Amino acid sequence: MEARCRWAGWKERLCSAEQAAALIENGMTVGMSGFTRAGEAKEVPRALAERARQDPLSITLMTGASLGNDLDKLLTDAKVLSRRMPFQVDATLRRAINAGEVMFIDQHLSETVELLRNRQLAEIDVAVVEACAITEEGGIVPTTSVGNSASYAILADKVIIELNLDAPAELEGLHDIYIPQMRPTRPPIPVVAPDSRIGTPYIPIDPGKIAAIVVTHGKDSPSTLLPPDADTRRIADHLIEFFADEVSIGRLTPSLLPLQAGIGTMANAVMSGLAEGPFDHLTMYSEVLQDSTFDLLDAGKLDFASGCSITLTEARGKRVWGNLDAYRDRLVLRPQELSNHPGIVRRLGIIAINTALEMDIYGNVNSTHVGGTRMMNGIGGSGDFARNAQLSIFVTKSVAKEGDLSSVVPFASHVDHTEHDVDVVVTEHGLADLRGLAPRERAARLIDQCADSRYRPALRRYFEHACQRGGHTPHCLEEAFSWHIAAERDGHMRRFQTEDAGARRGEHREEPPVAHPA
Ligand code: COA
Repeated sequence: MEARCRWAGWKERLCSAEQAAALIENGMTVGMSGFTRAGEAKEVPRALAERARQDPLSITLMTGASLGNDLDKLLTDAKVLSRRMPFQVDATLRRAINAGEVMFIDQHLSETVELLRNRQLAEIDVAVVEACAITEEGGIVPTTSVGNSASYAILADKVIIELNLDAPAELEGLHDIYIPQMRPTRPPIPVVAPDSRIGTPYIPIDPGKIAAIVVTHGKDSPSTLLPPDADTRRIADHLIEFFADEVSIGRLTPSLLPLQAGIGTMANAVMSGLAEGPFDHLTMYSEVLQDSTFDLLDAGKLDFASGCSITLTEARGKRVWGNLDAYRDRLVLRPQELSNHPGIVRRLGIIAINTALEMDIYGNVNSTHVGGTRMMNGIGGSGDFARNAQLSIFVTKSVAKEGDLSSVVPFASHVDHTEHDVDVVVTEHGLADLRGLAPRERAARLIDQCADSRYRPALRRYFEHACQRGGHTPHCLEEAFSWHIAAERDGHMRRFQTEDAGARRGEHREEPPVAHPA
């Protein structure tokens, strides 16, 4: 305990989770640690949910991103959440958001603390942060994520620290905490490479604000990534071929550019696939570091990875957390404001690989809203990276729900990333390089390369009709929305499938391309 908690005043602040949770009052705004199920405060939110069952209360809860250990579910079931931001992935909370019971503010992950600092959001009353150590000066050493914890602790009136004695002590030294100065006189943020270290290895706070220290035990929830399947492998293969071509043309070198990969099974599979390619001395400047980061480190392909959280499957976690010293000099965890910083993303020339739910024929991408209406998870950091990347790539399977829905549609039912922020799209069928193309050219290429063969004829017909009507970005709105209306009403888009079984078997080369009006 003495080694983990070196701040002299700790004994007076030591208390139970229930006592600490009592500091959170009805109507407060609370900032908690936690990012993609990593490094969340575990016991205080549990105690809060328990208390709310006897004594109802509701709060605005801000985190880095999603919470593990079913905390969002617990807090939703106990009706603790009136407002939630900036990201989540929990099925129970998702239902409450879509029922209008919880007000969810879906934000670019780099922006939340900037808005707080400028007092554009309600001020933080209490911060609850998981730590693996407390320094002599009362500085907080985070665990497996930094997320928004640093700014929450700095901006809050009171800070509750959950000192997790199960978190590896070797995490100390992994973090790089830097808080940008106030605008408009902010000097440049001096991250000039993924391995730049510009801050302190702990969150510096006024120890007078430490209101409670709760000693905890417990682990992060393992990541729920599924192993790569045939389709995600094909997506990875298309991307690897594309990167290899870019290298041979001389647009990229074999070390590519700093890589960012989004959350989820697909992005992880694509990154793992890079281990097979002709690339070396790769670097990552990303948000969440998943299993694939460690696959690439182990394969000797990746020199350095910068992120703001580490989220691993159970099997991978066992190998990493017990062996941190083998990785420590090749990793850094930063606040999400910096890992996703638009200026740094643009400076470093990042290759951003994010996932779409659906995209339209012009390359507008929907990453968040099913049927344009129901929230899935949130935009997360995808917008921070896509807008500012040197190469902005979106991947998706060409169909969802076993083919009942086409992921390529005439008109995206919700747009998170406009065509202006989308350079390349990839499905299992192929890769469409949309750089330098006008909308009519983008549509022709995207339909031909990426749509599933069952939906391609209907998409081509749609595009032909739209072109006959004219316009820079041609559309027939009544036809465009009929795809989404069918999905909403019938639960599928099957009426837009071609019945040609040959087309289904033969993928997408069997039909003559339509003449695209210039
Ligand atoms: N219409 C309806 N549902 C769709 C769909 C579509 N066009 N495409 C996918 N889905 C459903 C899938 O069926 C699946 O549903 P299920 O959970 O009921 O099985 C779910 O969406 C997830 O899709 P999946 O194919 O498993 O992909 P994933 O795990 O890679 O997640 C996103 C994809 C888009 C949901 C996820 O990447 C995300 O939330 N992205 C936004 C945030 C982000 O990009 N953050 C990273 C920035 S660093």
